[in-house]
Amino acid sequence: MGRAYHQHISSALLQSLPPGCSLLDLGCGTGLFMRRYGENGGDAVGLDISRGMIENARGRCNGFEFCMGTAEELPFRDNSFDAISCLLAFSYLRHPSRMLAEASRLLKPGGRIAVCTLSRNMLTSLVPAIYRLGELIDIRHVGVGDFGEQYYTEDEMVILFSEAGFLDISVKRVSFAHISLKKPIFEIARKMEPFVEQRMPSLAYNILVAGRKPGLIGGRTP
Ligand SMILES: C[S@@+](CC[C@H](N)C(=O)[O-])C[C@H]1O[C@@H](n2cnc3c(N)ncnc32)[C@H](O)[C@@H]1O
Repeated sequence: MGRAYHQHISSALLQSLPPGCSLLDLGCGTGLFMRRYGENGGDAVGLDISRGMIENARGRCNGFEFCMGTAEELPFRDNSFDAISCLLAFSYLRHPSRMLAEASRLLKPGGRIAVCTLSRNMLTSLVPAIYRLGELIDIRHVGVGDFGEQYYTEDEMVILFSEAGFLDISVKRVSFAHISLKKPIFEIARKMEPFVEQRMPSLAYNILVAGRKPGLIGGRTP
């Protein structure tokens, strides 16, 4: 279930980024997205706050570089990357605008950023309460637990991206099915996924926000 969920999200992210370039993946986890990005060529650097995640990712991604640290303060030179991705990690940041300012500094002119994060809507506004209830009455498999994650509306994400100076900002809904659902419900949710993404934004679990740093790539219009 986790694999299907991740594949679906990472496919959407790949469509928003230039293939075969230099990528920085923020909150890279076990390197699943980096490995997929690398299948079309290109270089990837992964950054994560967790040493354990990075060790795991090194085992999965031969030849890529990794760095331990927070996505809010990035130890790289200005204009170093063609693309920046952040998959399901943005919601854990305490200072999301710092991360976006850093991303803007690190991208080359015309470089692209894509962030997939938890969206705040009718469905997800109930999730923290469901987690708390699950913990309270100690029922297993009711959600995965409350990690203090933040949920963002589309408007909030667009404002954050604009304030960081990104242009051509686009927002898409991604995924309704969530791995913490019980299997039969997950399968039904998965089948409904395309319909929900296109027609029922208030039920989509994640949003994918993409943008471009101003400027021209190699003197050409991106
Ligand atoms: C849900 S996992 C997603 C991992 C990966 N992007 C993926 O899609 O498989 C969230 C990741 O964000 C990382 N993380 C949380 N806070 C972070 C921060 N401030 N800076 C960098 N990484 C962070 C966690 O360690 C974890 O690996």
